[in-house]
Amino acid sequence: MAAERSAFRLALPEPTASYEQDAEYCVVDTGSGWVEHRFHDYDRLYTIPGLYEKLFYEILQCQSPPVVCDLLAAQLRAQDVDPSSLRVLDVGAGNGIVAEELKARGVGKVVGVDIIPEAREAAERDRPGTYADYHVVDLTALGTDRAAAIASGGFDALTCVAALGFGDIPPEAFRAAFDMVADDGFVAFTLRDDFLTEGDTSGFAGLISSLLDSGELEELDSTVYRHRLATSRDPLLYRAVVARKRRRA
Ligand SMILES: C[S@@+](CC[C@H](N)C(=O)[O-])C[C@H]1O[C@@H](n2cnc3c(N)ncnc32)[C@H](O)[C@@H]1O
Repeated sequence: MAAERSAFRLALPEPTASYEQDAEYCVVDTGSGWVEHRFHDYDRLYTIPGLYEKLFYEILQCQSPPVVCDLLAAQLRAQDVDPSSLRVLDVGAGNGIVAEELKARGVGKVVGVDIIPEAREAAERDRPGTYADYHVVDLTALGTDRAAAIASGGFDALTCVAALGFGDIPPEAFRAAFDMVADDGFVAFTLRDDFLTEGDTSGFAGLISSLLDSGELEELDSTVYRHRLATSRDPLLYRAVVARKRRRA
């Protein structure tokens, strides 16, 4: 299958081939020949304007940002929280699609965090002004000063969409971001559904269940949904969770 855009041509493997999510790839021609890009080569994908949206949103029908933002917005309404008062830390922010969805639901302030500078550059290029600030950091290697400087944004919500696991954000980075959110803050994230089952080896099932068991996380709602299609066109099932961070007992 191929899709055309003015600045690039894009093609995916035949749907008969099946790849693990971190091995999926496409080929792109920006005018000087076809080049293969793994889906997880975000630095290269973000550099080509419109490619990320064409690939994941138009062709593979990604639904994660609206699904998790709708779930969060419903909980804000249910708990009588004015979205315009919310200050959200959006981790694994990429080129800003989640921030755009949050802003469309009336959220007041969104600050991005991503590990690669190409993500911030793409967010500034594609959605200028959407983030109040955008930090390029590795959350697993933050000094206390840098962590405190980011947390001084006074966050009362954390979002992390389509970015946990698979060599992306590891459990310890999620924990570091979680620690930057105020008590009673909202936490909204998506994760491949089988990462939350017994026998999971990603570390997320252990982290989330220990946060729930210790009372640090109070789940408000969750739903299993189709995150996107794989290149095989099979559905990839994720879980979206909205919770509140509570003071450790
Ligand atoms: C699939 S993209 C999702 C982007 C955005 N949340 C969305 O839904 O469109 C995953 C993002 O996570 C970022 N990422 C991967 N590892 C990370 C880490 N350790 N810390 C922060 N961001 C990370 C990647 O650079 C990439 O921008």
